[in-house]
Amino acid sequence: MSGKGGTGKTTVAAALALALAEEGKRTLLVEVEGRQGIAQLFETQALPYEERKIAVAPGGGEVFALAIDPELALLDYLQMFYKLGSAGRALRKLGAIDFATTIAPGVRDVLLTGKACEAVRRKDRGGRFVYDYVVMDAPPTGRITRFLNVNDEVAGLAKIGPIHNQAQAVMRVLKSPETAVHLVTLLEEMPVQETADGIAELRAARLPVGRVIVNMVRPQVLDAADLELVGSVSRPAVARSLSSAGLGGARRGGHAERLVEPLLAQAEEYAERYTLETEQRAVLAELDVPLHELPLLAEGMDLAGLYALARKLRGQGVS
Ligand SMILES: Nc1ncnc2c1ncn2[C@@H]1O[C@H](COP(=O)(O)OP(=O)(O)OP(=O)(O)O)[C@@H](O)[C@H]1O
Ligand SMILES: [Mg+2]
Repeated sequence: MSGKGGTGKTTVAAALALALAEEGKRTLLVEVEGRQGIAQLFETQALPYEERKIAVAPGGGEVFALAIDPELALLDYLQMFYKLGSAGRALRKLGAIDFATTIAPGVRDVLLTGKACEAVRRKDRGGRFVYDYVVMDAPPTGRITRFLNVNDEVAGLAKIGPIHNQAQAVMRVLKSPETAVHLVTLLEEMPVQETADGIAELRAARLPVGRVIVNMVRPQVLDAADLELVGSVSRPAVARSLSSAGLGGARRGGHAERLVEPLLAQAEEYAERYTLETEQRAVLAELDVPLHELPLLAEGMDLAGLYALARKLRGQGVS
């Protein structure tokens, strides 16, 4: 799950993980930016570098969560490939791990995508996949293609050996139809433009584009006929309607008049926004990607709201 900053990547990733976990499925929700956004959303304490059950979905499915820490992921790898054990800890003391995860470009991203792909491919003793789905709260649109593609660069740099094989295995998962990069947007010009650019970049890199989720959609309060009237409506008629509806006092020449201007100003504002949103919907329709919409939860986000968004995604067949 990617998208412009602040559009709801973390929220929608969590809602998707819940939606996919329904009916006994098991989902892993991973975050990679060290922000502890998932713990906050599920109202639990900070996640360790360890898969933890954080929610039960309707119908008995489970959502696990993991905050991937690049340093610990690197130690994992050294252990896996080179059986480094305590030598790995020594490297850490020397600051070599810091160097690799914060300074060497790309290494950090390789570790993050590598860990997520390991979870995708992991099987239990009976040979069944441990997780039915892995949902990643990924970096924003501006960085997503580079982030996912960095293994290609690494595979090219290390021509043979475990790192080369690892990088290639990760790319196989990421470029397969098993993976889908979903993008969250708002019905505003900037995030929609970023979505369009992001899709073009992903396609050019042959990464599988999934769906676009339009988040925080506000309800439509005026229909086409009402919108026509905005701007040309007769003020005395509005005042009369308000009075007869018992608003602003029933008395002729009462308070209803005072409500007219602010209400019409709101209507005009709404009409303007509606026009802009319609333009953005048209741009999104051109992208040739399945579109979904999630409502703006006016009361703000909480766990109940998150479950409500998950239901909406389910209802729109996102699974
Ligand atoms: N459908 C919604 N209705 C109401 N509030 C929402 C909705 N979706 C997200 N929010 C709120 O919007 C804010 C941004 O959401 P979120 O943190 O998921 O975005 P993000 O894209 O992950 O941000 P960042 O780029 O900072 O990681 C949060 O306060 C969240 O609770
Ligand atoms: Mg986030």
